[in-house]
Amino acid sequence: MEFHDLRDLSKKQLYQCALLLHQEIPTGWKNIEEAQNEITEQLESDGYFYALIDQGQLFGWGGILPHYSGHVYEIHPMVIDKKHQNKGFGGLLIKHLEDKAKFLGGLTIYAASDDEFDDRKSSLRDTDGYDNIYDKMKHFDPKGHPARFYIKYGYQLIGIMPDANGRGKHDLILSKKL
Ligand SMILES: CC(C)(COP(=O)(O)OP(=O)(O)OC[C@H]1O[C@@H](n2cnc3c(N)ncnc32)[C@H](O)[C@@H]1OP(=O)(O)O)[C@@H](O)C(=O)NCCC(=O)NCCS
Repeated sequence: MEFHDLRDLSKKQLYQCALLLHQEIPTGWKNIEEAQNEITEQLESDGYFYALIDQGQLFGWGGILPHYSGHVYEIHPMVIDKKHQNKGFGGLLIKHLEDKAKFLGGLTIYAASDDEFDDRKSSLRDTDGYDNIYDKMKHFDPKGHPARFYIKYGYQLIGIMPDANGRGKHDLILSKKL
C-alpha cells in the first residue's frame, strides 16, 4: 500500500479519482465532469493531495488545504472506495494527512462534514441549529453519519454551520489537535 501525490498521477488515475469522488459523494459532485473540475481546481491550489494505491489499484484519496497562515489544515476531500470501506484504509489515509499537516507546521486539522444524507443522519439532523446548541453538541451522536469516522480517529465536534445545506441540514465541524 503506497501513498502517491495526486500531482504525479496519470490522466487515467486522475479520472479514477474523479469517479470515486462522484460515486461516494454524489451530493457534492453530481457528475464526473464536476468531480474532474474540482480536482483540476484543487491541484492548482496550495493544498496537498494523496491517493492510496495498492498494486495499481486506487483505494481512495484525500487532501489538506492550509488556512490561518498554515496554523490550521482542512481535510478536503476524504474518500475511500465503497468496496474497501470499514477496513481501516480511511484511518491510514487520515493519519498520512495529519502527519503531513503537522510536518508543515499545522497545529489543528479539521473536517467540515455535511449532515445532508437522508440515510446517514446524525443526532443533530433536523434539529434547530440555534436552540440549545451547546447541550445538543455535548450529547452529539454521529449514528451513521461519517462524523463517526472522524470521532473514531480522535476528532471532536467543535461547532456547526447551521442550515448550511437547507433547514436542519447543518455542516458539522470536527477538529483535532496536531
Ligand atoms: C468516511 C470514510 C472516508 C471512512 O473510510 P473507511 O476506510 O471506511 O474508514 P475506517 O475503516 O478507517 O474506519 C471505519 C470507521 O468509520 C466509520 N465509517 C466508515 N464509513 C462510514 C460512513 N459512510 N458513514 C459513517 N461512518 C462510517 C465506521 O463506522 C467505522 O467506525 P466504527 O468502527 O466505530 O464503526 C469512507 O467511508 C468514505 O469514503 N465514505 C464516503 C465518503 C464520505 O462520506 N467522506 C467523508 C465526507 S466528510
